[in-house]
Amino acid sequence: MKTMKKIRNDELEPEIVDWPVYMRRAIDLAGNAINTSSNPRVGCVLVTNQEIVGEGWHVAMGEDHAEVMALKLAGDRARSSIAFVSLEPCSHTGRTGPCSDALIAAGVSQVVIASIDPNPEVAGSGVAKLIEAGIPVTQLSDFDSLSRAVTPGYFKRREQGIPYVRCKLAMSLDGRTALANGESKWISGRESRSDVQRLRAASGAVITGIGTVLADDPSLNVRIGDLKLAPEEIARNELSLSKQPLRVILDSQLRTPGTAKILNLPGEVKIFSIQPPDAVKNPAPNVEYLQAAGGGKRVSLHSMLESLASDFGCTEVLVEAGATLSAAFIQAGLVDELIIYIAPKLLGSDARSLLNIAGIESMSDSLDFEITDLRQIDRDIRVVLKPI
Ligand SMILES: NC(=O)c1ccc[n+]([C@@H]2O[C@H](COP(=O)([O-])OP(=O)(O)OC[C@H]3O[C@@H](n4cnc5c(N)ncnc54)[C@H](OP(=O)(O)O)[C@@H]3O)[C@@H](O)[C@H]2O)c1
Repeated sequence: MKTMKKIRNDELEPEIVDWPVYMRRAIDLAGNAINTSSNPRVGCVLVTNQEIVGEGWHVAMGEDHAEVMALKLAGDRARSSIAFVSLEPCSHTGRTGPCSDALIAAGVSQVVIASIDPNPEVAGSGVAKLIEAGIPVTQLSDFDSLSRAVTPGYFKRREQGIPYVRCKLAMSLDGRTALANGESKWISGRESRSDVQRLRAASGAVITGIGTVLADDPSLNVRIGDLKLAPEEIARNELSLSKQPLRVILDSQLRTPGTAKILNLPGEVKIFSIQPPDAVKNPAPNVEYLQAAGGGKRVSLHSMLESLASDFGCTEVLVEAGATLSAAFIQAGLVDELIIYIAPKLLGSDARSLLNIAGIESMSDSLDFEITDLRQIDRDIRVVLKPI
């Protein structure tokens, strides 16, 4: 039986030299979706004689898959087209029918993908189904990393059993997050806070520590009005935006007061502690109390992330905590992306520092990062970093 061909960009024959343009477009389309958790962000472009006849992306869990949206748009023009899809078309029936079947039924002439689906229910079987039906499949291997980057949590959850973790912090120019008396509102400007709203909206869960709940009484919800999205973008993402990310509090000793704002807003709240759920004396309504596995005096961060991935389908999560919990995530090697908003103000040496990390005595022990994005947001600077 024929197998899938894998080619790099420098191996493309002259007649298919434009394929990367269409694959790039498919991956860009995938990025249109704010939150598809626990599904992947996927884009699809249908091309006939160098003309795009249909395109689509997966908007949210429960909505059409990218291929189906593109096929609907193309109608009869899908016949004999080449389908460029950022991820291997699915072969199983979930909430929607298999996309490989839809592509076969539409009569596409060949399928070009960027990545193989790590979901064990697919994992090559979507490709096999297409090939069995006589449709050649090619992987553009140079696009694998880009297609993963557009939906990092989907791959991380499938491959490592935990979500992709972003950790956001706001600090002054001198690396301080609050005055000595705890006053911290606001370090960063309105535009930066609106940018954080976007990070929340992309997340399956927003995680904080009991220290922040007691000090700030935050809401940690998504407020559509603060998102600064164009009306068509809001309309497009209506389904995912209608659902708040889980709000997760790490509170080993169950100290969260029932009056805390975070417990009393629409959306689900999970409190992870080291206590069994029946130890909760006055459970708050709409809150699920969970005992994190792993033992120890504090919530095990890895077990908590495993639970978010396996029990609640979280693919991307955002840590919005203080210096203690944020440092614990970083030191445990659990942060994939650190996002720091730097405000052009000085808070002085009495103010609190960014992270409670003690005991680094030699430069060789420093925790090192590389900058992956740097931009000005109104008066602030946003730096995105990855650990190295
Ligand atoms: N600048 C910013 O971006 C930003 C963002 C958020 C908060 N803040 C500021 O941060 C301050 C609060 O910081 P904080 O350090 O006191 O609190 P925190 O980091 O939000 O929470 C720390 C608490 O989390 C609990 N926890 C549960 N499991 C843990 C684990 N495995 N490792 C570490 N901690 C764990 C611990 O309490 P238990 O042992 O009782 O569970 C710990 O004391 C506030 O003043 C707030 O304004 C700043």
